[in-house]
Amino acid sequence: MQDKVTAGLDRKEAEVYRQLDPARLPRHIAIIMDGNGRWAKRRHMPRVAGHRAGVAAVRSTVATAARIGLSALTLYAFSEENWKKRPRSEVDFLMGLLSRYLKAEVPTLNQNNIRLDYIGRQHELPEDVQERMGWARHNTAHNTGLVLTLALNYSARTELVDAFRSMVKAAAQNGGIEHLHIDEETVGRHLYTRSLPDPDLVVRTSGEMRLSNFLLWQLAYAEIYVTPTLWPDFRGLQLLEAIAEYQKRERRYGGLNHGDIHAHSEAHAKVRK
Ligand code: FPP
Repeated sequence: MQDKVTAGLDRKEAEVYRQLDPARLPRHIAIIMDGNGRWAKRRHMPRVAGHRAGVAAVRSTVATAARIGLSALTLYAFSEENWKKRPRSEVDFLMGLLSRYLKAEVPTLNQNNIRLDYIGRQHELPEDVQERMGWARHNTAHNTGLVLTLALNYSARTELVDAFRSMVKAAAQNGGIEHLHIDEETVGRHLYTRSLPDPDLVVRTSGEMRLSNFLLWQLAYAEIYVTPTLWPDFRGLQLLEAIAEYQKRERRYGGLNHGDIHAHSEAHAKVRK
């Protein structure tokens, strides 16, 4: 299995992949793609050139994720704030870029057995973009490998607001509001990500140490990996490096790590003696 995977990777990727434990891949990786504007500025190019270059990074990252057998990858492509706060010309450019990407990419997604999905308030996007999104999702719906989720017009707080509204609505339709019962599982079932496991790893490019309103509920226990690499320079290799770093960490979910548990029980035993 591992040889089959490395055969599809380039030399440097294969080198990093060989150090990974394929049984301990994160089940879901979420990426905050950042730094397109800075990438362009450094080259004295317009910001949109950075976004265009960012598409190559998306392609490479998605292809490598599929090749190594990752089950879910979510990319923060366009926040609700981007939509409201960026110049119209940049927003229009991003919409066009997304549309062209979806049209061009479906055959490759199918070759790689990738199913496409979206999170975010889709109904607020331009109609032609919504149609293209629906078309791409429909034409990859039969795939059973990687689930690639694009966060478009996404905001975690808006997602929570939508979830609360949806819970109240469901209760009202199911015997009335007095039957409303809310626990963590209920909230999870009303989020946009209801069919995905929570991300084990969140990657942010370009060195910023922020979550920027991305998957706030779902990232509660995620490992955070920040790389100074600007998004247009990110490739499958950098994804594998992030996974290698993730596999070095010990996840505790609020508990103790193995060494501490051992030390703790020994100390207890001594006290009892
Ligand atoms: C952040 O860089 C990036 C975005 C707001 C857009 C992300 C879009 C792409 C990577 C390309 C298209 C995506 C798909 C899925 C086809 P920034 O502009 O905030 O960079 P800066 O912080 O350096 O200004």
